[in-house]
Amino acid sequence: MLPIRDCVQQTPGYVPGEQPQTTDYIKLNTNENPYSPPDEIFNNLEEELKKVRLYPDPVSTKLRQAAGEVFGFSYENILAGNGSDDILNIALRTFVNPGETVAFLDPTYSLYEIIAKVHGANIKTIPTNENFELDSPLICPEAKLIFVASPNPPLGKHLNRQSLQETCEQATGIILIDEAYVDFSDENHWDFIKQYNNVIVSRTMSKSYSLAGMRVGFAISSVEIIEQMNKVRDSYNLDRIAQIFGANCFQFQDYFKDIWQKVRNTRNRLTDSLRKLDFFVFDSDANFVLASPQWMEASDLYTKLKERKVLVRYFKHPRISNYVRITVGTDAEIDRLLEVIEQLKNEA
Ligand SMILES: Cc1ncc(COP(=O)(O)O)c(C=O)c1O
Repeated sequence: MLPIRDCVQQTPGYVPGEQPQTTDYIKLNTNENPYSPPDEIFNNLEEELKKVRLYPDPVSTKLRQAAGEVFGFSYENILAGNGSDDILNIALRTFVNPGETVAFLDPTYSLYEIIAKVHGANIKTIPTNENFELDSPLICPEAKLIFVASPNPPLGKHLNRQSLQETCEQATGIILIDEAYVDFSDENHWDFIKQYNNVIVSRTMSKSYSLAGMRVGFAISSVEIIEQMNKVRDSYNLDRIAQIFGANCFQFQDYFKDIWQKVRNTRNRLTDSLRKLDFFVFDSDANFVLASPQWMEASDLYTKLKERKVLVRYFKHPRISNYVRITVGTDAEIDRLLEVIEQLKNEA
């Protein structure tokens, strides 16, 4: 018998959305940005590539400084992660002993549960209301760490701000507010970091800065919290190319702001068009929408779209088993999606 920890043996492992190995799919399944970063960030990489035999900056100094300028914090308030998934894991290992409690909403980003289980933590899930929203503070006095995503997947809407604020006020543990999708909305929770000493905000460059393949994320919090988390991260957790891409992308704010607006416009058009095609669709603050076809099982729709080379995401979770989650693509990709859906509806 191999000495595998029980909690690992009993965990199914995280199931990411498919990354097809061919390029003939319209890929609307993993909330990537449909637009590339600006061409300029691919220039002048040669010098850096020649340094691959050397370790990268262990503390990602330039990247954190660039992030600090954009976020309005000192770089000492910022920890860089290998994607924000890395930040979630670092937080877990900094604040929670195996056997202690981690809390999060249901449904939410499914990785929270997997990493907490693998860590050997107790899990407390707090159901969202029938509209998948938070209408009262998330109370869990025994939780050492609460993960809350706002906007919260798979719905993509911001959580009620008042409830979130009361959660921060009442919590005895750490609240990590996961803002992976925040740049596609008008709100953020920077003020909570300043107001409460137990709040961490996590950010990613995967979605709004078109860098999913580079793995760049951040924790922003008090210097005291960041110092403790810094001890827990892998010693060289971001490679040198990721650090450069990340820092460079932050220099192109106008370029990315245009993209965020484009994604929002397409999201609104997608929502309206799906409603006209007899879907129930939630309003979204993110770069995806959760939609339920009223004329076909969502699982069948997922399969039939895939047969026609359009990938969306389907979750077996009982509360959302009649929904598909659709990432906002380019206008042309969304036109094609809508065209295929219309054909399927006519055939149904
Ligand atoms: C809520 C949420 N947080 C974090 C992530 C992970 O982001 P990253 O690519 O930075 O690891 C995702 C990815 O889908 C997400 O949905």
